[in-house]
Amino acid sequence: MKITVARSDSAVKESPLLVLPLPEGGSLPEGAAAALDAALGGIVAALLARGDFRGKDGETALLYPSSKNGGPERVLVVGMGKADKVDAERIRRVAGAGAKQAATSRAASFTLLLPASSVDGKRAAQAAAEGAVLGSYTFTELKSKDDDAPETKAEAVTLLVDGDTAAAEAGARVGEVLARAEWLARDLGNRPGNVATPTYLAETAQRIAREGGLKCTILGPKEMEKEGMKAILAVAAGSAEEPRFIVLEHRGGGKEDKPVVLVGKGLTFDAGGISIKPAAGMEEMKFDMCGGAAVLGAMQAIAELHVPLNVVGIVPSSENLLGSKAMKPGDVIGTHLGKTVEVVNTDAEGRLILADALSYAHRYAPAAIVDAATLTGAVVIGLGHQATGAMANDEALLAEVRAAGDLAGQSCWPLPMYDEYREQIKSDYADIKNSGGRPAGTITAAWFLREFVGDFPWVHLDVAGTAWGDGKLPYQAKGSTGVPTRTFVEWVLARAG
Ligand code: BES
Ligand code: MN
Ligand code: ZN
Repeated sequence: MKITVARSDSAVKESPLLVLPLPEGGSLPEGAAAALDAALGGIVAALLARGDFRGKDGETALLYPSSKNGGPERVLVVGMGKADKVDAERIRRVAGAGAKQAATSRAASFTLLLPASSVDGKRAAQAAAEGAVLGSYTFTELKSKDDDAPETKAEAVTLLVDGDTAAAEAGARVGEVLARAEWLARDLGNRPGNVATPTYLAETAQRIAREGGLKCTILGPKEMEKEGMKAILAVAAGSAEEPRFIVLEHRGGGKEDKPVVLVGKGLTFDAGGISIKPAAGMEEMKFDMCGGAAVLGAMQAIAELHVPLNVVGIVPSSENLLGSKAMKPGDVIGTHLGKTVEVVNTDAEGRLILADALSYAHRYAPAAIVDAATLTGAVVIGLGHQATGAMANDEALLAEVRAAGDLAGQSCWPLPMYDEYREQIKSDYADIKNSGGRPAGTITAAWFLREFVGDFPWVHLDVAGTAWGDGKLPYQAKGSTGVPTRTFVEWVLARAG
């Protein structure tokens, strides 16, 4: 999408759609909004005067100016809620609403007046760009014909800004890169298990590396064998589809600088293995690679933004099926680190493939590791679809990642890692077992991962409740959300200073 920045006091341009955000309170703010409305013959003032629009968060009205003065064909008025609560997320949502209206109206472009907010001009433009690009996301590639959504999307958006246009342009560029990275993550998540296989994810990583100048290493079963990656090989054993271990390296920092490492679960379909899942809803387990997809998306953005930091992205990728060679409940398996694991439940497979990835990361002596995984159903019970579960061995790093999540509008809420929870994964037959049972299932899963992290600062994000959904937010669509792609990139950008 082409994003242009213009000053809000420039004359009303011809546009198929003008998006006008208004705060709660029923009056038109002085300045650009009032001037725009005056040029439109006062239709917005009329709407407000009749009390038909209150400006409540998310409220919308679509108006058609009658004057043929070369101005906009339509005006979408969008409520922003209380004026002092307008933040980046509200801007992201209003821009998303604009993109959705543009699609409904078959408008090839739209114009958005940036509202006054609590964030600076650069951040505001970034959020608007993110909302506009993400709001125009659709996933139709597997339909031969889609009558509901004819192929018209906004291809251009103009942001009308109050202050510094250069800062806004810089912000818009970052937002566009982040949103495209999240598009990639959404596409990968939405593609079904028979398309987005481990091999497919590896090929995608190679393309990202080629286009962005990254180093890419792909391990197949033979190389994994040599590396001693017994856990991911055990998970992949029940499947005809070969596993892949994907490593992307961005060298943006000093030669000697320790990298930060992003790790993502790339389970391309999780049937549960011999501890098979119930049939109802099992199709959603194609989304079990969304953590890995977010790592790939983030690495694309990090390369495009030339972030001055060394960053490694690791995606262990496999299926979890029930072939005759599948691991069985009770099996004791080895791991890349050397610890032995009693597999009490073959459906707790994500932590197994991540175990090998986390110990593989030790070779980089990382400054920090952040992983994302659709790891437990329990986190959906605990936090629903509003927040990602965050667990860590380092409070300062946890605070960094939470701050990044807040910037991205992707909240991460902490769960405690008390030592006592570790008791639940003690095994009678091996060093540890792969399930601690139902109580605190999200935390005991994190404790399992922690066994493979070593002493490196680490945060684990359980995105099982947030990586896909029904697309309720204006900048979302049904299916994969792309979470936590932008959180990853915001965190890396903040580390880079
Ligand atoms: N991929 C699932 C977690 C999941 C379940 C994500 C539902 C989203 C919705 C994971 O591999 C899994 O099966 N976890 C088990 C662990 C249990 C066996 C200890 C779970 O959460 O039930
Ligand atoms: Mn599972
Ligand atoms: Zn899984």
